[in-house]
Parts: sequence; structure tokens; C-alpha cells
Amino acid sequence: MIAAIIAAAGSGERFGASIPKALIQLGDRTLIEHAVSAVSSVADQIIVTAPSGYEKEIQTLVGDGITVVTGGATRSESVRIGLSKISAGVEYVLIHDAARALASPDLAKRVVASLKSGDVAVIPGLAQTDTVKIVGASGIVTSTPDRAAMRRVQTPQGFTYEVIKQAHSKSGEATDDAALVESLGKPVRVIDGEERAIKITTPADMATALQFLGKSTNFKTGVGVDAHHFAAGRELWLAGLLWPDQDGVEGHSDGDVAAHAICDALFAASGLGDLGSNFGTDKPEYKGASGTTLLKETLALIEKSGYEISHVSVQVIGNRPKIGSRRAEAIATLSAALGGADVALLATTTDGMGLTGEGKGIAAIASALIYSK
Ligand code: CTP
Ligand code: MG
Repeated sequence: MIAAIIAAAGSGERFGASIPKALIQLGDRTLIEHAVSAVSSVADQIIVTAPSGYEKEIQTLVGDGITVVTGGATRSESVRIGLSKISAGVEYVLIHDAARALASPDLAKRVVASLKSGDVAVIPGLAQTDTVKIVGASGIVTSTPDRAAMRRVQTPQGFTYEVIKQAHSKSGEATDDAALVESLGKPVRVIDGEERAIKITTPADMATALQFLGKSTNFKTGVGVDAHHFAAGRELWLAGLLWPDQDGVEGHSDGDVAAHAICDALFAASGLGDLGSNFGTDKPEYKGASGTTLLKETLALIEKSGYEISHVSVQVIGNRPKIGSRRAEAIATLSAALGGADVALLATTTDGMGLTGEGKGIAAIASALIYSK
């Protein structure tokens, strides 16, 4: 069994926010939630040390399966409180800082693999690129250690339960747990760390962390167009709404050009074919399908491929109907079909020119911005 302790009880003094650092939002989640997801794929038991007074809030964020305890006055003390909650049968312990929110699950896996291959203490480290000086109290350099042998170390750090228990048995203080293990004379193995596992200490670090999140987000755009000829005796469905007393348009489905243009924009962005290849005449189950049904099906297909919608925009091109008075209703309908996505709806005429200017039908052009993480 593997346990993970997440040290999250600090106040984040250097960050300077009014709430503890672990509760600060980074992208779509708080630092503590990020840190939990970095170890959750390898840990059977997770213990979080919370700042006093924030235990309930953190428990709600991380969920019921995780043990939340009140931390101590120092990081080392918080870790010792965490160690006291470890279940019987735990063989390895990972100790991770909430402040290193963006450490990847792969890093935790590599730490565990190294422990399983026989190491008793494993820490991630990166090469030291700046030259480091030892400086005396008078401000004068006393020495320049060899940079090549230096590593900037990170968390999660992994230990056998026996070794970490022994290392913390004397109430030692250190800025990381490996230092206490070193003082026992046990070998501490350094494996490759990750740039993204930076320690978030100041707001400037947050900006760097956001860049790491941005780099892992893959945006794609797509454009879609649809046009249908008016056909007497059919209902008009447009932008997810029924427009009473208006001639409808021809089509295999309900002929909702706005919905269809959005579907094609989403297919274009995701590279999943188009309206015809997904719902065309060779798919009789979509005959007469409503625009909102096709939007929902399209959303399901792009989500299955790992995409989420950032924004969708559609412009209806035609002499009628006049969209303005029902714009909000149409946007709400389209957005609901797209799982609550941001939708913009515009309309224009073409000054009497071209297909829709001649009054023969309605067209729409849509664009979609989607992303995968
Ligand atoms: N930590 C802890 N218990 C403490 C102090 C720190 O669990 N008594 C945790 C922090 O929450 C953080 C990690 O140890 O995730 C590393 O500490 P640091 O980055 O220094 O965070 P803070 O102590 O919160 O920040 P500061 O030193 O600026 O106040
Ligand atoms: Mg601190």
C-alpha cells in the first residue's frame, strides 16, 4: 500500500493573499485540488494537512475519500501529523507540497517505481543553471560550490514507511523530508524532476504556472456554413426555435441552418468529418432530427474525442425572420444543447444580393473555438 501526505497547512505569507495558499485558484481548480490529482493515481491513502480553520473547506474540495487533518506550526510538524494518520500496511509514503500544484501524475509514478526497485528515499531534482555562492554574514562570498553537482529538488518525495518514520522520530526541522533521511545516513536517490513542478511561492510563480497550464491546452477553430431553400408547407426551425407563421425550409432534418452551421464548425475544429458524414441521408435515424438534437449529438462526439467548447458564434443570413426580438431565447436554447457553452447569435441581410438576398432561403455561418487538455 502507498500513502501520500500533502503538506497544505502553510499560510502563504510570501504569496500575500487573504486566504491560505492551498486555496488559491490556478486555472480551473485550487492548488490543493491540483496537488491531490498529482498523487491520486498511485496513492491508496491520501492525507492532507490543512491550515487551522480551513479543514472543512478543504475536505469539501478534495472529497470524502481523503483524510484531512489540522497541520502544525512548521512544514516538518505538519508532515509528522500526517505520518501519525497512516494506515496499517502502508509500505511507501509520498510527501508532496500543495505549493507544487502542477507536478504531474507521471512524476509520482516514477518516484514509486524507483522505490519499488529498492531505493529507500527518492526525490525529483533538476539541474542548477545559476551559479550559487555561499555568502558570509558580512556579505562577502566565502565559496562557490560546483554547480554541476547541484540539483534543485522538488516533491513528491518518496520513502519507505520505515525510513520516513525513523527520520521524523526526533522532531527534526528541515525544508524537505529528504534532509532528515540524509541525516540518518540513508541513501537518497535523485531522479529527473519536472519544470512544471515549480513551487508556487509568489504571485509571479502563479503566472509561470498558468503558462504551464496554457501550454497543455490545445485550441482549435472551425468554420461551418449551411443554407436551405424556402419550402411552403414546412415549419420554420431556426437557431433551435420554432418560428410560427413563417415558411420553413427544405432539408433531411428540420432544416435549422444556424444549428447545422454550428455543428459543421464544431466538426471542422475537431476534425471529425462534417454534418453529412455524421448525420447524412445514409443515417435514416436522423431524418427529421431537430437542430438541438444534432447539436447535442455533435457535442457528445467532440467530447468523446477529448474536446470541450470554449465559444461558438453563428450569424444568420437572410431577409427573414427578424432574429432580434428572440435573440436571448435562441442563445439560451443553443447554449443548453451545447452543454452550457458560450454562444453568440447575430443576423444580417445581404442588401438584396445573392441567394438569401433574393429571398429564396436562409443561410448561416458559424465559428467554433474548442480545446483539449
Ligand atoms: N506547509 C505546511 N505546514 C506548515 C507550513 C507549510 O503544511 N506549517 C506546507 C505549505 O502549505 C506548502 C508546503 O508546506 O504546500 C511548502 O511550504 P511553502 O511553500 O513555504 O508554503 P507556505 O508556508 O504556505 O508559504 P510562506 O512560507 O510564504 O508562508
Ligand atoms: Mg513556508
